[in-house]
Amino acid sequence: MERVVYSDNAATTPISKNVYNAMLPYLTTGYGNPSSLYSLAREEKKAVDQARTYAAECLNCEPDEIIFTSGGSEADNLALKGLLFGKNFPKNKHHIITSTIEHHAILHTCEFLERIGYEVTYVGVDEQGHIKMDELEQAITENTALVSIMAANNEIGTIQDLKAIAELCHSKGTLFHTDAVQAVGHMKIDVKEMGIDMLSLSGHKIRGPKGTGALYCRKGIVLEPLIHGGGQERGKRSGTENVAGIVGLGEAMHYAHEHMDEYLPYVASLRDRLIEGVLKIPYTQLTGDPVNRLPGTASFVIECIEGESLVLRLDLAGIATSTGSACSTGSLDPSHVLMAIGLPHEIAHGSLRVTLGEQNTVEDVDYLIEKITYVVKTLRDMSPVWDEKMSGQPMLKLFDK
Ligand SMILES: Cc1ncc(COP(=O)(O)O)c(C=O)c1O
Repeated sequence: MERVVYSDNAATTPISKNVYNAMLPYLTTGYGNPSSLYSLAREEKKAVDQARTYAAECLNCEPDEIIFTSGGSEADNLALKGLLFGKNFPKNKHHIITSTIEHHAILHTCEFLERIGYEVTYVGVDEQGHIKMDELEQAITENTALVSIMAANNEIGTIQDLKAIAELCHSKGTLFHTDAVQAVGHMKIDVKEMGIDMLSLSGHKIRGPKGTGALYCRKGIVLEPLIHGGGQERGKRSGTENVAGIVGLGEAMHYAHEHMDEYLPYVASLRDRLIEGVLKIPYTQLTGDPVNRLPGTASFVIECIEGESLVLRLDLAGIATSTGSACSTGSLDPSHVLMAIGLPHEIAHGSLRVTLGEQNTVEDVDYLIEKITYVVKTLRDMSPVWDEKMSGQPMLKLFDK
């Protein structure tokens, strides 16, 4: 293999050296239980407290507004179910609002809530993936307990106007949660300034360890825990703390907070170079907002190719990318995000997501452009759909729907 280019950083990121070094003592000598009273455990308690402070600094909240979880999915579940299941939560507040482009951690939680009797409204987005604010405004009623809208989309990278959404929610007397799993560490987030009531994040998207995450929950909001037990995390999430994981997450957030101004412009410059190169391929379009997008996310639809074939062929060249159209899942439908932004099926099937990180280089990007261009040409050379398009015939419909 000529080289290996990991460019699927929205799926997960490699652990950074500083995170590894910070975690190591807690995987070896620092094995005490932070709840214990003896000195061996005090170090672990201090380490968890320090991580909580780092997380709070990164979001501009108080340390005791952070609840450590096993990841973004758990944080999302805790925000939605924890709020609605609260002991004294008003019975009339049985409605929540989310969007059609959320991650399944939110969508499947909402489907579950619907099954047990709650009402959910799914607000649509425009063709760049921005929430339709007028639809959102109309959807909020006196029964709405919570609006949950993601900060930035994991497939197309579009960033929402969180401050405007929070203002709208508060003006109508409802709370605002954001799934910021793709956003934390990739853009500035200030929960106070933006007016966010709850926010979910995940360690492994910011060069921290897998299986770690947190929910920021503004003081005064009462949540019913999903995991009852020994009362850790101030009773909001029981279970002996994943000390090494929490330390790793804290270190990753500390690094993000301190160094974001340096690495975000660098990652964005790589993304822009990649976008410029890939858009030279004929019949290729960028998906998502061209400006207000995550610094590392380049997402495309490339006509007359199958996204899954492209990803598999790029893998043979040592390149890790992803697509929102995976036939191997048994579904012929492209991703719900690509459908929600209104792409026709036959176009959405040729989606490619390349997500870059601080560890990528200009050479990586040039290799990506070269290989993507080559593989697209190879696939099109074999494609009757491409032949038809080139001969000026109307495009073949790939699927009936
Ligand atoms: C937007 C979004 N929310 C939630 C999650 C789930 O996070 P985790 O893998 O930490 O459970 C992901 C993971 O891809 C995501 O992209």
